[in-house]
Amino acid sequence: MENFTYYNPTKLIFGKGQLEALPKEVEQYGKKVLIVYGGGSIKRNGIYDNVMEKLAEINAEVFELPGVEPNPRISTVRKGVGICKKEDIEFVLAVGGGSTIDCTKAIAAGAKTDVDMWDIVTKKKKATDALPFGTVLTIAATGSEMNRGSVITNWETNEKYGWGCSYTWPKFSILDPVHTYSVPRDQTVYGMVDIMSHVLEHYFHQTTNTKVQDRFCESILQTVMETAPKLLDDSENYELRETIMLSGTLALNDMLNMGYRGDWATHNLEHAASAIHDIPHGGGLAILFPNWMKHVLDEGNAARFKQLAVRVFNVEAGNKSDYDVALEGIGKLRNFWDSIGAPATLAAYSINESSVESMADKTVIANSEYGNFKKLTRQDSVEIFKASL
Ligand code: NZQ
Ligand code: ZN
Repeated sequence: MENFTYYNPTKLIFGKGQLEALPKEVEQYGKKVLIVYGGGSIKRNGIYDNVMEKLAEINAEVFELPGVEPNPRISTVRKGVGICKKEDIEFVLAVGGGSTIDCTKAIAAGAKTDVDMWDIVTKKKKATDALPFGTVLTIAATGSEMNRGSVITNWETNEKYGWGCSYTWPKFSILDPVHTYSVPRDQTVYGMVDIMSHVLEHYFHQTTNTKVQDRFCESILQTVMETAPKLLDDSENYELRETIMLSGTLALNDMLNMGYRGDWATHNLEHAASAIHDIPHGGGLAILFPNWMKHVLDEGNAARFKQLAVRVFNVEAGNKSDYDVALEGIGKLRNFWDSIGAPATLAAYSINESSVESMADKTVIANSEYGNFKKLTRQDSVEIFKASL
């Protein structure tokens, strides 16, 4: 392992009925509250009314920013920053999924600076502070509820980047699995693919002696795979939703990657595809991850893939070469994602050869090389996208 310091200040409030805690948590920070939410699911499933009721208990003065897009836009961030400044907002509350939370992180930071948030997302400038904010999570996927990352899209320039800073940890996150009962089947699948992909991004690294972390990763992968088919048949099962919700948080709250840095090339590839085609994040990952694996696998690194194949996908190693075992494991990951209805080719989103070059360009705007398990270049991006068509 490498030396590390672990710090995660987000208070996690998990379980049935935990929205009860909302007034007390918000009150500590002020009564002028901006609530940020997406395209309307929280109005249809009743979460909006319940949140409003809770905020009324502390006589909060509530302002609203609805309409955060999946793959949230910088234009929506700017709108939110404008409201915070005009109304002297004291606390921002995200009610929704990763997109709403990520947008909220950027609004909270933007409210405390005169710098345009796109300059901060693109790392030309740094955030210097942020308004306090909390989250009520409604979909298990990104882990944004307990990390400081935020992914924002600029639809004018077709760019999508992750950023984050020490001010963008949520003060608290309320996770009631019941809030995820209404997540549609496709979004439930995308969420589970995203969770597994976060674990897989961690899993592929070059640091030695990460035995505890490996087993943590493997147990989350196995748990999600065991739970996924049952949940798809029984979408309002509390225990199944609870299991996936906790998996999502643990997969990306920096706990699994103590002492090493994961790969993250596939996320870079997916963000490039989404930046141009606005595809769901988990759908893109389901297509790209197995192709990234096949692209980087070689005799020299096959042992890592073999460990995954044997421990998580129950591949019988026997006398086979590490390389063959690794390939079998990758095939089993593909089969599993097929079995839960995740997409397998870019054609599923009508993406064809004509945009391979432009997507590849996007993967190397921030850095000319990317990926930590194996360094990749623009040419690698082209090959992985072509294999994914
Ligand atoms: O917008 P509404 O109407 O709320 O509907 C949403 C949206 O259409 C719907 N939904 C959410 N909760 C629901 C629900 N529908 C019914 N009932 C509910 N309870 O689901 C759709 C997707 O929501 P979204 O927030 O976009 O999903 P997700 O949580 O997967 O977030 C995706 C975004 O997060 C970024 C992705 O790139 C993408 O932009 N990521 C953020 C990360 C982070 N901050 O750490 C890491 C990830 O790797 C990822 O890149
Ligand atoms: Zn992700």
